[in-house]
This record gives sequence, structure tokens and C-alpha cells, in this order.
Amino acid sequence: MAQILGVVNQKGGVGKTTTTVNLGAAFANRGKKVLLIDIDAQSNLSTHLGIITQDDTEDISDPSDQVIPGIYEVLKGTKEIKEVVIERSENLSIVPSSLLLSAADLELGGVVGRELILRRAIDKVTNDYDYIIVDCPPALGLLSLNALAAVQKVIVPVQSEYLALHGVRQLLDTIDQVRTIYNPGLTVGGVLICMHDNRRRLARAVADTIRAYFGELVFDTIIRANVSLAEAPSQGMSIFEYAAKSAGSEDYDALADEVLKGNETSEES
Ligand SMILES: Nc1ncnc2c1ncn2[C@@H]1O[C@H](COP(=O)(O)OP(=O)(O)OP(=O)(O)O)[C@@H](O)[C@H]1O
Ligand SMILES: [Mg+2]
Repeated sequence: MAQILGVVNQKGGVGKTTTTVNLGAAFANRGKKVLLIDIDAQSNLSTHLGIITQDDTEDISDPSDQVIPGIYEVLKGTKEIKEVVIERSENLSIVPSSLLLSAADLELGGVVGRELILRRAIDKVTNDYDYIIVDCPPALGLLSLNALAAVQKVIVPVQSEYLALHGVRQLLDTIDQVRTIYNPGLTVGGVLICMHDNRRRLARAVADTIRAYFGELVFDTIIRANVSLAEAPSQGMSIFEYAAKSAGSEDYDALADEVLKGNETSEES
């Protein structure tokens, strides 16, 4: 059975997609079978790994022109998740997203059990993978609720910037509510400091505040600001393919080790 992780923060541009891609790639490099699921209408995860190109997502007057079926069709019930999985390499597969997803909130609004659609879809493939990671959009709408209802652990990337914690309290409250109503096993796997520039005093101060606020919940690993991480998506590559010796590779390798180690200790206890 797969461990199912969600990368969630309603704040935009904090490193959710970068973390999903590179944590997933690091697991795959360790021989784990990984499925990444893109539930953001921006489709950044799908473009980051070269599954769809920018041209597929821009300048389309009718989004249904887009040919690759993905998570939208799964949520609408017109395709099974297995039918839309794209195998990118031996260990790394992806369920892509599309612009159509931007209408899903509205379209699924009247469906009974609408918060549990993703969970039911993932249940059908959980035996095929070691890790399933869901990349969430920058909003706490129906799509993120579906992710929270489906995953076991949430990873919350935060930037060590002014207002980093803005909205995180609301996110934690939402996680509490989802745990009570839909998903008793839901835990916060960790708060991940991303795009950190240790040379900047403000960043160091914010990182200290984050640690003071969340304590043990903060990953020891910090993802440094690293230009290769920002460049890799334009080549359709993970950081390990684009710049294997960069600080970005080092940091996401360390994060993968920390998550794997955390799982070992929680299995023992
Ligand atoms: N550690 C890093 N160092 C430098 N650039 C980074 C780093 N992490 C992410 N980036 C860049 O910052 C931008 C935002 O990152 P990313 O897309 O992962 O955030 P996000 O939370 O998924 O955004 P959104 O909320 O729009 O989905 C991207 O251009 C990405 O390439
Ligand atoms: Mg994103």
C-alpha cells in the first residue's frame, strides 16, 4: 500500500510544485514506485516534468481542445485513474491536470460526496505504488479539500519571507476539520522551509519564528534558494536530471531521506 502525501498551502508560489516533483523524483531514484497527481488547473506539475508543454495550456480558446485526459476526467467520473496515468520513467508516473480543472469546483458543487472523489479514485491504485504525492492549487477550495480527505500526511511548504505564516493557522484549522469529518488518520507530516536564503537576516529571523511556532513539526531539512531549481522546469526536468550536483539536488535528497527515516521510526513505534 502506498503512503499518500499532499503538498498543501493556499499561499501561492511557496514551493509546492517544486517539492512534489523533486521529492517524488528523489523517491523514484531510491527505487520506490511513485505516482504524482496534479490537481492544480495551472498544470505546473505536468509542465515541470515535460508531460504537457506551455503551448498546451496557453492560448486555448476552448480548453476541451486539450487532448491529454487527466485528473479532471477522473473527478468528473468519465475516466478511471489508471486510464490517465502517464509513465514518465520506470518508477515515476504522473496524473496530469488541465485548464478544464478550473471549472471543477463549480461543476462538482452539487455532487453528493464531492469531497471524497479523489480519495475513492486513489484507493483503486494504492497497491500499485510506494508513494503517491498530490500537488495542490494555491486555494483551500474543493480540490484541496479532496486532497486533504485523500492523503495520510500533509507537507506544508513555507517561504522564509515576511508573512510566511499568513494563512497557515487557517490551513491547520481546515486540516483539523477534515480530520474530524472525513479522514481521522490525517497528520501534518511537516512544515518545510523553502527558498531559504541564509545570508539574509530577515530569512534567518523568519526561519527562527517558524521553528518557534511549529517546533517539532518543522523538517530539519531546509530547501535553499537555488537557481537550478527555478531553471529545471523550463527543461521539463527534475532537479536530479537537470543539475545533479546542485544545492537543490542535495536538499531534496536530504528531504527524501528525512521522510523515509520518519516513516521507519513511526512504523517501529
Ligand atoms: N528553492 C528554490 N529556489 C529557487 N527557486 C525556487 C525554489 N523553489 C521554487 N522555486 C521557484 O519559485 C516559483 C514558485 O515555486 P512553485 O511553483 O514550486 O510554488 P507553488 O507553491 O507550487 O506555486 P503555486 O501556488 O502557483 O502552485 C517557481 O518559479 C519555482 O521554480
Ligand atoms: Mg504549484
